[in-house]
Amino acid sequence: MLVQVRSTVLPALLAIGFAATAQAPASLKDAYQGDFVIGAAINAAQITGEDVRGDAIIKAQFNSISPENCLKWESVHPQPDEYDFTIPDQYVAFGEKSHMFIVGHNLVWHNQVPAWVFRDDKGNLLDRDALLARMRDHIHTMVGRYKGRIQSWDVVNEALNEDGTMRQSLWEKIIGDDYIAKAFQYAHEADPQAQLTYNDYNLENEAKRSGAIALITKLKGEGVPITSVGLQGHDSLTWPTVDQMDATLSAFAKLGMKVAISELDVDVLPPATRQATADVTVSIQQNAALNPYVNGLPDSVQQQLAKRYADLFGVFLKHRDVVNRVTFWGVTDGDSWRNDWPVRGRTSYPLLFDRAGQPKPAFDAVIRAAGQPAS
Ligand code: G3I
Repeated sequence: MLVQVRSTVLPALLAIGFAATAQAPASLKDAYQGDFVIGAAINAAQITGEDVRGDAIIKAQFNSISPENCLKWESVHPQPDEYDFTIPDQYVAFGEKSHMFIVGHNLVWHNQVPAWVFRDDKGNLLDRDALLARMRDHIHTMVGRYKGRIQSWDVVNEALNEDGTMRQSLWEKIIGDDYIAKAFQYAHEADPQAQLTYNDYNLENEAKRSGAIALITKLKGEGVPITSVGLQGHDSLTWPTVDQMDATLSAFAKLGMKVAISELDVDVLPPATRQATADVTVSIQQNAALNPYVNGLPDSVQQQLAKRYADLFGVFLKHRDVVNRVTFWGVTDGDSWRNDWPVRGRTSYPLLFDRAGQPKPAFDAVIRAAGQPAS
């Protein structure tokens, strides 16, 4: 779709290689204005300004940012008495400068959390009260520092197993199931205005979704201040189906939740695991059959990816009263975690911009899908 580009957007578009005409492709953020904000997870090179090309794309195309790694516990709070806010402060300033909706990711997760968090000086596991105190202190420090500036926090990340039961993380084992309620309560104390999200992957699968529905129903019943669900959206060309996506959005809408598609990407490479997952601890040995597109993506697959993105955005638009944000997990294909997970060193193509920062056919498909909700 060609539209008139606003004067503030044009220089940035030109910087990333669009033709120098008065007409240029619409930006993602403009195309979905009034529907939901469009975000990207950004890395340290983008936050610090080192990735000039990436920054031009971010500013031209997106009106929300998520921190890919810099706000995770191990990055920001590596030792009991040591916080490093150097990159996080720049992250928030980056978003404010461009008037973006700023996301905090994440507060309580079983990954990327240092071992000391769960242990005392002698190396013994903490008891419930001591771990709750530590969790409260971390949440109050993080959320309090950016009160009124980070608009939405992923408070608890990936607390469920695939069958919908509670994951036996150290948080759950030491504190009990109510660690989730406590985390939301602490975050709300620190910033009563912030959106507070439960964020997970594979909630489109029925068993895990049922677990999430039960969890949220319980939390809401107890008056816990949870406002939204994050569907990570680490998708493939075939999963989740449009029907699964549709049913999932309807189910969370029924609970009164807003939904963020919080980490969207679409994998086109051969599956390396039997079950679709986003578990970062999975690691598979590389082989040529698992890495077929080293020299470029065939046009036929490029078109499949474009159609897939159009279908997904059709469902998001259908539920635009519920979906408040769609965030891509990275800016260009070269930035994506998918190049190193679950197999290190593959050439992956999950996003809308290629390795040269150019918009792919999938970008055009997402722009074209705007304003045309699925029936
Ligand atoms: O910090 C070190 C750096 O010092 C070192 O030079 C480099 C060498 O490889 O590794 C760096 O750490 C890596 C980090 O990303 C920053 O690049 C870790 O090894 C790597 O495991 C880490 O991966 C991140 C992963 O979460 C684990 O935190 C991915 O970038 C990030 O995209 C991914 O994001 C997660 C979401 O937070 C939660 N949902 C799933 C999603 C995808 O796994």
